[in-house]
Amino acid sequence: MITLYVEENYEALSRRTADLIGAEIIHNPSCVLGLATGSSPIGTYDCLIKDYKDGKIDFSKVKTVNLDEYIGLEGTHDQSYRYFMNTQLFDHVNIDKSNTNVPDGTAKDIKAAGEAYDELIASFGGTDVQLLGIGENGHIGFNEPGEFVAGTHIVDLSESTILANSRLFNSADEVPRQAITMGLHGIMSAKKIILIASGEKKAEALSKTINGPITPDVPASILQLHPNVVIVADKAASSKA
Ligand code: F6R
Repeated sequence: MITLYVEENYEALSRRTADLIGAEIIHNPSCVLGLATGSSPIGTYDCLIKDYKDGKIDFSKVKTVNLDEYIGLEGTHDQSYRYFMNTQLFDHVNIDKSNTNVPDGTAKDIKAAGEAYDELIASFGGTDVQLLGIGENGHIGFNEPGEFVAGTHIVDLSESTILANSRLFNSADEVPRQAITMGLHGIMSAKKIILIASGEKKAEALSKTINGPITPDVPASILQLHPNVVIVADKAASSKA
């Protein structure tokens, strides 16, 4: 079941999302959070850092599992998703970094690394809350349009994703062509899913996610099968929903 919250703007969307995650941490201090990178969750992470500094939430027992990582980038690379998570959230709260997990994009055997990642998620019984952004093409994690894949796997990034992500690199040529991503079973095994969508560019994908058929052409449409999905969108992103 999908519940849609429409917020006035990105600030309100971020506050709403942080409140939902903060509530989970208060309810279950040792919860497992599935986390995302990209532009969408930055405001949410800022709000969570503020809530931590204000003494409202405690990350000391929280565990995290991230969605994805570029192939070939070390965690110290400033465009790697490990680096993003450290600088946007983990370095600013009292989380134990040994409880944080990001797929290893430098593993020699990516298949084995993917299987180990799925075993880790299964050992938690799935995440308690999985935070997602959505691609303009309807991807979640880096599950690109074309097929539903269950397990953590290596993926060739689509041209539209490379173009969208090139804004963070010096040029599109520098964007890695492949990523390792949590698969759809890992995502869907979450007890609750929160998807953030901000801006007009996401409106079409969001509309198809909520109202369209469940199809590999729009990977996020699989969320219609999940019993507990909250989409937090701003007015622009929800304009076609
Ligand atoms: C990031 C991820 C991606 C992004 C999506 C939206 O970990 O898995 O699915 O959530 O590409 O990216 P932004 O938020 O930058 O528009």
